[in-house]
Amino acid sequence: QRPQMEEEGAPALRPAACRAKGGAPGFKVAILGAAGGIGQPLSMLLKMNPLVSVLHLYDVVNTPGVTADVSHMDTGAVVRGFLGAQQLDAALTGMDLVIIPAGLPRKPGMTRDDLFNKNAAIVRILCEGVARCCPDAIVNLISNPVNSTVPIAAEVFKKAGTYNPKRLLGVTTLDVVRANTFVAEVLGVNPRDVSVPVVGGHAGVTILPLLSQVTPPSSFTQEEIKYLTNRIQNGGTEVVEAKAGAGSATLSMAFAAAKFCDACLRAMRGEGGIVECSYIASQVTELPFFATKVRLGRGGAEEILPLGPLNEFERVGLEAAKKELSESIQKGIAFVNK
Ligand code: NAD
Ligand code: LMR
Repeated sequence: QRPQMEEEGAPALRPAACRAKGGAPGFKVAILGAAGGIGQPLSMLLKMNPLVSVLHLYDVVNTPGVTADVSHMDTGAVVRGFLGAQQLDAALTGMDLVIIPAGLPRKPGMTRDDLFNKNAAIVRILCEGVARCCPDAIVNLISNPVNSTVPIAAEVFKKAGTYNPKRLLGVTTLDVVRANTFVAEVLGVNPRDVSVPVVGGHAGVTILPLLSQVTPPSSFTQEEIKYLTNRIQNGGTEVVEAKAGAGSATLSMAFAAAKFCDACLRAMRGEGGIVECSYIASQVTELPFFATKVRLGRGGAEEILPLGPLNEFERVGLEAAKKELSESIQKGIAFVNK
C-alpha cells in the first residue's frame, strides 16, 4: 500500500508483510494529534522504532504533509495519514496502541486546568473513536490536564462498555525524565544511570518526586530536596515561559512519549520486568486515579506497585497532591456524566 496518497502512474505495490525487524511481531500504533508540536517529532521517533510495523497519523490539520515526510524514512514501519473527523475510524481500526497528544497547549500564565474546557471535549471524541474501532487497544494519554483527561477517558470507555483500567495509561514519563535529569545534575552523574520515581499526578503539587527512593541510593541536603522538588514540579512551566507564547514542551515530551510507548510495546511482546510510572486507575490511595510505578505486561498495566516508604517531607507533599488530584478527578468524571 502507498503510505498516503496514490501517485499517478505509480505501479501497484506488492503486499507489505509484517515489516518489524528481527522476526519480532510488529505492532500497529496510531497517533491522534500527529501534526502538532508533540505529534510530529513523536511520529518520527515511532517510525524509528522496530517494534512498530504500522503507524497511523491522525489530525484535524496537516497530516498529508507530515505523513509524506515521515514515510520517506527508510525504516520498516508502514505510515498512513488520516485527516479530519470523517477519517478517525479508519485511523483507529485494528490498532494495538493509541497515543493521544491532541489538544491545546498552555501559554504563560495558564495552568493545565485552564485547558480543560477545550481539551476535555477533544479527548472525549477521540476516546469514543477508540471504544468504537479498537476497544482492546492500549491507550497512552498525553493531552492536558492529564489529571482530568484520564478520568474522562475512563468514563467514556465505561459508557461504551469497553473499559479495562489496565489499558488506560496517563503519560507522566516527562516528569520522570525531568527528575532523572535534574537529580543527575545535582549528583554530577549521567542521567541514564539515575531513576527517580515520580508519583501522584501531572500538574504542580500533584507531581511528587520520591527523592528518598532514587536509584542508585543517594542522599540529599534539605536545600537540594526543596530545589529539586520545586524544579521537577515546575518543569512544564519553565518550558512554557521560555517558549514565551509558542507552546509548551514538545521535543522532550515526544522523547518521553516514545520511551513510554516503547516500554508498552516491549511488554506487549512479552518482555518481563518492565516498570514505568503512569497515572492510572489505582487503589494505592483512596483516590480512584493515581500515578505510581506500574509493571507493564501483554495486557497493559499488569501490576500497580505500592508507594513504598515515604519520609516526612514526602508525606506532607502526598497530602497536598491528593487534595488537588481529588478535585481534578471529580471534574473529569462530572464532565462526561453531566
Ligand atoms: P499543539 O497545538 O502543537 O498540537 C496539538 C495538535 O492536536 C494539533 O495538531 C491539533 O490540530 C490537534 N488536534 C486538535 N483537536 C484535535 C482533534 N479533535 N483530533 C485530532 N487532533 C486534534 O500542542 P502540543 O504542544 O503538541 O501539545 C498537545 C497536548 O499535550 C497539550 O494538551 C499539552 O498540554 C499536552 N502535553 C502533555 C504533556 C504530558 O506530560 N502529559 C507534556 C507536554 C504537553
Ligand atoms: C509539561 O509538563 O511540560 C506539560 O504538561 C505541558 C505543560 O503545560 O506544562
